[in-house]
Amino acid sequence: MGSFIVEGRNSLEGIVDIGGSKNAALPILASTVITGREYILENIPDIEDVKDMLEILSMMGCSVQFENGIALIDTRGLNTHIVPEKLVRKIRSSIILMGAVLQRTGQVEVAYPGGCEIGHRPIDLHLKGLRKLGVEITEKNGLLVGKVKEPAACDIHLDYPSVGATENIMLFAVGNPGKTNIHNPAREPEIVDLQNFLNACGFCVNGAGTGIITIEGKKADSTGTVEYKIISDRIEAGTYLSAAATMKSKIYIRNIEKSHFQSIITLYEDAGCEIRERNGTIIVANNKRIKAIEKITTQPYPGFPTDMQAQFMASMAVADGVSIIEETVFDSRMKHVPELQKMGANITTIGRVAVVEGVEKLYSAEVDARDLRGGAALVIAAMGAEGISKINNIHHIKRGYEKFIYKLQNLGVIITETE
Ligand code: UD1
Repeated sequence: MGSFIVEGRNSLEGIVDIGGSKNAALPILASTVITGREYILENIPDIEDVKDMLEILSMMGCSVQFENGIALIDTRGLNTHIVPEKLVRKIRSSIILMGAVLQRTGQVEVAYPGGCEIGHRPIDLHLKGLRKLGVEITEKNGLLVGKVKEPAACDIHLDYPSVGATENIMLFAVGNPGKTNIHNPAREPEIVDLQNFLNACGFCVNGAGTGIITIEGKKADSTGTVEYKIISDRIEAGTYLSAAATMKSKIYIRNIEKSHFQSIITLYEDAGCEIRERNGTIIVANNKRIKAIEKITTQPYPGFPTDMQAQFMASMAVADGVSIIEETVFDSRMKHVPELQKMGANITTIGRVAVVEGVEKLYSAEVDARDLRGGAALVIAAMGAEGISKINNIHHIKRGYEKFIYKLQNLGVIITETE
């Protein structure tokens, strides 16, 4: 599974280049199957989740090449409606292939993704939306079997602005005749990027980023190659910002879209961090202990993202004062807490609320990454701690951070990887 060895009491200095967004790349890769044609996708992050998604496409008959952030994909050869079960279990977000495969082939078979390390993750909203659009869905031996019966455009009201459900519905509705409105959709920048990609493919989607997404269903032209560049990863950028804010630093975070992670920037400014922006580069300077933020609650976009909760907690663990951090998006996303406690963090949890009393410094320890962002938080904590820490199960971190060690070493961090 591998471990990182991190020498503590680091200060950060230098430049970090942010890669393409994981959460934009995955649904865009899935949506390439809607129409059999060729695609050139730029700024695709070199991370395990992306490699797994590309392997799924390849196992389903598509041709795939991936090098230097560019994916060349030809989906004309798609020869099955069955999404390989083993990989679906490995990469939960492959469930968004459902809408795309249904649109292309009229049927789909995909393993029920089940729960995962950040809690119970139902897909009822995905299924409700697809059923309303005319898909018959049954469950057989842990497999979801979908068949397009009477494709119907309609109004869909999401009870919660689920990112995955919004994407799945978009991917199926784009090719359904008539007008579909998604009310209360997720408004994340990754949804806007998916809309832009679908429109680049010749579909007609409007309103992403607002309270209603409108889709005029049509068959897209399958001639010509679609070229598209994916947005940069706001959570990766936010993670380096957290690291810089947690220790003495002056770093330049390049290739970012500031507006995409404004809530993160504002929070760290409130904590006393000096942050400036110049031409798509964020400059973070910090030479003192940061202040605790009294209360923060994770929310769907544009609120503070759940994907930054753990990294923010690592910062607050050494801040001056007491912070209350409430996780409202997922029901079990505090697994980093006992690991941070092993490093001397003073954190008490009550359900989904953590009370973090900042300490002057953390100490080194051997800790286990339990999920992607929680794992990144442990690396941040270890970089600021006294002594040498070992972080196990780093496969979680590699799912979502491109060249993590290399980028940290470039910022002056003493970090190595062991088997
Ligand atoms: C996506 C992101 C993930 C991020 C999350 C929230 C990807 C690949 N992953 O995950 O990094 O943390 O958005 O910003 O983009 N829910 C239901 N029923 C459903 C669907 C969701 O109850 O049918 C609930 C979930 O259990 C969870 C909440 O809604 O509590 C948010 O889930 P959702 O927005 O769907 O997240 P994902 O798409 O899984």
